[in-house]
Amino acid sequence: MDSISKSVVKLDHGPKVRGEALYAPDHPMEGVLHGKLLRSDRAYARLLSVQVPELPEGYVFADWRDVPGENVVLLILEDTPVFATDTVEFLGDPIGIVAGPNEAVVDQILSKIQVEYEDLPPVLDPETSETIFFDYSHQQGDVDQAFAQADRIYEETFRTGYQEHGYLETNGLTAIPSDGKLTVHGSIQCPYYVHKALKKALGVEHEAVQVIQDVTGGGFGGKEDYPSILACQVAVAALKAGRPVRTIYSRREDMAYTSKRHPSRSRYKVAVKDGRVTAMDIDILYNAGAYTTMSMVVLQRGVICANGVYHIPNLRVRGRSAKTNTVPNGAFRGFGAPQTFFSAEMIMAHIATDLGIDPLTFKEAHVARHGDPTSTGGKYHFPVPLLEMSEKLTREVDYWNKRKEYDTQSGRYRRGIGFSFSFHGAGFTGSGERDIIKAVAALQKYPDGKVEILTAGTEMGQGLLTTFAKIVAKELHLPLNQIIIALPDTDRVPDSGPTVASRSVMVVGELLRRAAARLKAEWVDGEAQRFEEKFQEPDFVIPFNIETFQGDAYPTYSWGAHCVELEIDTFTGEHKVLGAWGCYDVGTPIDMTVIVGQMEGGLLQGIGYSHMEQMVCDRRGCIRSNSYSDYTMPTSADVPNMGVMIHVEEYPEGPYGAKGAGELPIVGIPGAYISALEQALGADVHHIPFSMEDTLSKWTEVQTL
Ligand code: MTE
Ligand code: MOS
Repeated sequence: MDSISKSVVKLDHGPKVRGEALYAPDHPMEGVLHGKLLRSDRAYARLLSVQVPELPEGYVFADWRDVPGENVVLLILEDTPVFATDTVEFLGDPIGIVAGPNEAVVDQILSKIQVEYEDLPPVLDPETSETIFFDYSHQQGDVDQAFAQADRIYEETFRTGYQEHGYLETNGLTAIPSDGKLTVHGSIQCPYYVHKALKKALGVEHEAVQVIQDVTGGGFGGKEDYPSILACQVAVAALKAGRPVRTIYSRREDMAYTSKRHPSRSRYKVAVKDGRVTAMDIDILYNAGAYTTMSMVVLQRGVICANGVYHIPNLRVRGRSAKTNTVPNGAFRGFGAPQTFFSAEMIMAHIATDLGIDPLTFKEAHVARHGDPTSTGGKYHFPVPLLEMSEKLTREVDYWNKRKEYDTQSGRYRRGIGFSFSFHGAGFTGSGERDIIKAVAALQKYPDGKVEILTAGTEMGQGLLTTFAKIVAKELHLPLNQIIIALPDTDRVPDSGPTVASRSVMVVGELLRRAAARLKAEWVDGEAQRFEEKFQEPDFVIPFNIETFQGDAYPTYSWGAHCVELEIDTFTGEHKVLGAWGCYDVGTPIDMTVIVGQMEGGLLQGIGYSHMEQMVCDRRGCIRSNSYSDYTMPTSADVPNMGVMIHVEEYPEGPYGAKGAGELPIVGIPGAYISALEQALGADVHHIPFSMEDTLSKWTEVQTL
């Protein structure tokens, strides 16, 4: 094992296990007002009037009239308002905020505010929506000709549901106004996103805003855009009150009104000739919710991944993201890819079964190889180790014997074993790193020889503080305790970009390694020295064009192969996961425990997505599953027998050969899970989550055929 992979005790381990770490709600409340949002209770309506009762001394109500800059939350586009003005666009849309010293009094005030609406007909089904936020298409080869020459044509439609992030602590922030400056600290994934949004909403200069990350217990994409929205609201209240204001969501509020994974519908039409897939024509629809937030980039990834890991010579993909009057959906680990990877894996498995070929054999015959073109006419520049990985994994889990054994079963309990492949494009999609993010990272050496890491990277449990420190320590040949790294504060750190797209180690970690190499070469004892590195796109990259969707969408890829083994109870519909395994190539693991932890966590989150996690939006556009008793996520009691294998293909542009890791494991699990379920049921499945109830009704349907 490469020495950097050897695990160390995580740098943030001590304060977390001792209970000393201060998460957003743990900071002292002295002198801080409680802020709570007034929300629309209609999915779509004209806002006629808001009548606020007379407020007791020390309490404030703020709405769009109090926004000092523009009433807009700058995310990617600028359609999300800080507070609703003329209309409310989803049930929960913030109209105003009440802040004051006593939480119970704040609640009373909220309950007395009268909002007058004129109801408008909401659009809840993306299929009937006339507002398409984003519409992307790309094409390779001659799709029509391939269909004209096909032996067989398959058409199937797949659906995926919502998924809730379920981080440890809910969204929560404190805004502190002081002379000419506003400081916001809280549970944040991307401090500079919050910073940019605040500047716009408050209409102030860079220096007037400071954003600091509090200890954060998980974001999973759910704290990527949302804190920007909440920060603007809390900041407006704090400025009006002239006092610090803190808003910490209840779990119900967080589940019902903050972003989730986009539900999707994907229609696949596939041409097969001489036992091979020759063309795919794919139509994708994502439910964006009421505002665009992150939908643009989420859809891009979904569209790029629609053919899975397979080399399909003739490919046409169209993807749309439709507005509905529901809670805006956003980033979630995998970022639009899990939806289409599930569909791609299932259609490949279904075609194989129809052709009388084992799904894995059929998939192996179609996987992309090193040097092949990608779905967007880019290139797989580095080795594609999928076949080695499937070989390792199937041997380890005895896939072939089990697959054969489970083909003939009887009795109440039925078993299945399923396999899937996936990748995750490492870093921002397209030219994002080069044109939008333009990351900068710095190292500050102090006269005593200690070196501080300065980036905007956030620790969310994925081990970033530890992996960054290890990279710098190794390059400088210093012991780890000579490296200083803290949670980011925009007053102190350069903008190294958001902590998303599994980019931190590969992109920012490499900038740190380079800065460290320069510091080492120019080290002067007893002096303060500072080195900065800026992102540069590697030379080999075929520039991506967002208009034509052509070029390298990613410089390189992390790879995954997964197996899930299931037993279902045909009397109750219950699923028992007998085992879940993955073989992953994330380049050089910067810390083995961190990487195995990431993979196991993602496996489990993927099992939740495939089966357990049902989120229901009712006919009023109201998210009903707004508590952990209504929305069941895997707990420690649901952790199955899990196995993680690591395969290493070093990436020359990543630090010590590392690529992105964090999101990869969740992307492929649904394909393996549902394939196992299909074998147990003896029937095809076209949606996730596939619940106990779904299992029972499918079983009944199969038995009565
Ligand atoms: N792991 C933990 N424990 N907590 C998290 O919030 N977020 C995931 C993944 N793994 C997350 C996690 C997501 S969505 C991303 S994009 C990556 O971590 C981000 O971290 P990285 O850039 O350091 O890989
Ligand atoms: Mo991760 S969904 O890119 O925050």
